[in-house]
Amino acid sequence: MSTPTLADHVTDAIEELSVAEINRLDFSKVVALTNEPNMPSGGGATVRRVLQLAGPRRGRPVLEVGSNTGYTSIELASWLDSPVTGLDVNPVSNAFAEAKAKAAGIDNVTFVLGDGQGMPFEDNSFDLVFASNVTSFMADHRRACDEYYRVLSPRGVLAVVPIYYRQTPPEPLRRAVEEAIGVPLAVTSEQYWIETFSREGVTLVEAEPYEYVRQTPERIETYVEQVMDQSHLAGQPARKVAALRSRLAHFYDIFDENLSYAGYSILLFRSGHPNPEPVLHLTRRVHETRA
Ligand SMILES: C[S@@+](CC[C@H](N)C(=O)[O-])C[C@H]1O[C@@H](n2cnc3c(N)ncnc32)[C@H](O)[C@@H]1O
Repeated sequence: MSTPTLADHVTDAIEELSVAEINRLDFSKVVALTNEPNMPSGGGATVRRVLQLAGPRRGRPVLEVGSNTGYTSIELASWLDSPVTGLDVNPVSNAFAEAKAKAAGIDNVTFVLGDGQGMPFEDNSFDLVFASNVTSFMADHRRACDEYYRVLSPRGVLAVVPIYYRQTPPEPLRRAVEEAIGVPLAVTSEQYWIETFSREGVTLVEAEPYEYVRQTPERIETYVEQVMDQSHLAGQPARKVAALRSRLAHFYDIFDENLSYAGYSILLFRSGHPNPEPVLHLTRRVHETRA
């Protein structure tokens, strides 16, 4: 018997769903079926910034929690001479991630199926744990965070990139996003996440806040077409593909509006940091315009 291809996995998953069920799928499931790139906020620039700030030691293991279809884990592995592990609860996402890594010739990344609130790893296993927009998808944020620290080595870095609200969103919009992501969406702030990830013996060494820029409807439409124009979707039933396309377009529309009330931060927490932070005399970078 031949090994099932990626298209086989997706065909099986799509076959089990009616059009009405596709119309009710949450974002993560649509991402898994469509192989949406699913980047962290800020995309590759965020991954590179985390690497720059965290400076992981050569050869030491790195973990991404919520690796989805593989974007961040593959990006990390491509920059590092270290073993990278991506962990996700969704097996279809993991299958895509593995296929993408193989196609890109990246062999220092492994994808593992598991729950971030109880991970199948030994204590002190990773020098860098990266959790982008995943903790808010879990029922118990504190427990997930305890797990991140359990697997983090002494002097390791936990890098998180949570999305939060800078302004309170209209209630119907918040509810629409909640329905889209399939988990309760609390109106959190940057401070909420800083407190959630803070622990005794852990120092917040970097905090960089960002805001989102609104996208034009044309840009969103082009992106939807790019995602849907993939070979694994070509042979699927047309009505189901159309339902996936319209679900994806719906998500991007409401996310774009929602993100206009939101922000995200790149936060780095270091365990066992030897020196006090912050320094007394705070400074800020000078942005000069040179002639
Ligand atoms: C919105 S995606 C974002 C992840 C992405 N890597 C990023 O850079 O922001 C959330 C991912 O978290 C995964 N996820 C949700 N709950 C999880 C859990 N309890 N443990 C591990 N992964 C989980 C979902 O399957 C999905 O792939």
